[in-house]
Amino acid sequence: MDHFTYRSGVLHAEDVSLEEIADAVGTPFYVYSTATLERHFKVFEEALKGLPHLICYAMKANSNLAVLRVMVRAGAGMDVVSGGELERALAAGCAPDKIVFSGVGKTEAEMRRALDVGIRQFNVESEPELRALNAVALSAGRVAPVAVRVNPDVDAKTHAKIATGKSENKFGVPIARARAVYAEAAAMEGVAVVGVDVHIGSQLTTLEPYEAAFLKLRELVGVLREDGHEISRLDLGGGLGIPYRRSNEAPPLPFDYGEVVRRTVGDLGCEIEIEPGRLIAGNAGLLVSRVIFRKEGEGRDFLILDAAMNDLIRPAMYDAWHDVEPVREPAADAPVGPVDLVGPVCESGDTFARQREMANVEAGALVAFRSAGAYGAVMSSEYNSRPLIPEVLVSGSRFDVVRPRPTYDEMLGRERIPGWLE
Ligand code: LLP
Repeated sequence: MDHFTYRSGVLHAEDVSLEEIADAVGTPFYVYSTATLERHFKVFEEALKGLPHLICYAMKANSNLAVLRVMVRAGAGMDVVSGGELERALAAGCAPDKIVFSGVGKTEAEMRRALDVGIRQFNVESEPELRALNAVALSAGRVAPVAVRVNPDVDAKTHAKIATGKSENKFGVPIARARAVYAEAAAMEGVAVVGVDVHIGSQLTTLEPYEAAFLKLRELVGVLREDGHEISRLDLGGGLGIPYRRSNEAPPLPFDYGEVVRRTVGDLGCEIEIEPGRLIAGNAGLLVSRVIFRKEGEGRDFLILDAAMNDLIRPAMYDAWHDVEPVREPAADAPVGPVDLVGPVCESGDTFARQREMANVEAGALVAFRSAGAYGAVMSSEYNSRPLIPEVLVSGSRFDVVRPRPTYDEMLGRERIPGWLE
């Protein structure tokens, strides 16, 4: 459920008309709904009710500081994957002991900073990383709390670019090697084993892969405990999918996911950590864009938008589908026809949708891309020297620009022409 609805024929974010925001900040822009973010967090809370747990929002999905603050206020911890994300979590007010640090390539500087602030847990993805972390911790006079990310070799049945739990993926330690890695960790003075971590992929639309992975994890916990390790936390990663085509997709709900967690690992006496990103932020955000031209092509019409692949890369990168709706609600009998929705960037990949059946809209109209709150703004670039577009946060009847659109001067001002070229 989200809080984007038509009121008096105009699409609103909560109580604010998207036309009003467009007038105030210009197009294109991202808009997020506070109530939707909070609701999605709460749904996970309810799904895990009764189990000791911590929801560590995977901020890679949307790391705007205002969004993070909404999460922190709701009680979330954070899953971070870089030094930059760590600084964002801290800047948003997240308690360090609620921050878990994932990622296959943590640098020594990142490890040191995370140790200095006292994060909750390092999700270690390889033996070399474990050794490096031990060395950094020893030199800093600290002990790093560690969960080893195991790769359970489970097919998440999702897009190849976002599947992470198969043995051919770069993530985690093969589960067959886990015992040896834990034995090595136990002998290190700079690390303390606290748990086991798994994350099998993103945009999962069935629960079976979770079930399979969590059962493997369960077995592993038994073995590790027999080996004398104290396993008190299970980090189950993120990945629960969202409906991108609202007309015909209904992925499992957090409640059903919670039942799988209970059934598979709920009785192990471990604190459960989960790292949802997309499910929290995805349907809490829209990308709003204006039609620059409607162009008649050879056998097809193009809507040329002022948003482009640099603003929302998912269609170009993963062939992802995003529902697109006119901000002015079309009349029930308005003619519908197929159009190609494209941006102004100079490559054919700059296509959001091909032959999409949608109500006719003309130049000047506003359109909204749904499900753009996750992996939208965070993956944007300034390709074609298009400044990053603004982000707006709505709460009830108020809206605030939470990342302004940079001016051309600001964009150019980050670069330098060396003296010898002057
Ligand atoms: N934890 C770890 C270790 C992850 O690698 C990820 C996502 C998550 C949690 C959160 O997964 P989520 O709940 O958001 O599915 N850019 C792609 C998605 C990449 C996901 C990467 N890892 C997209 O636009 O579909």
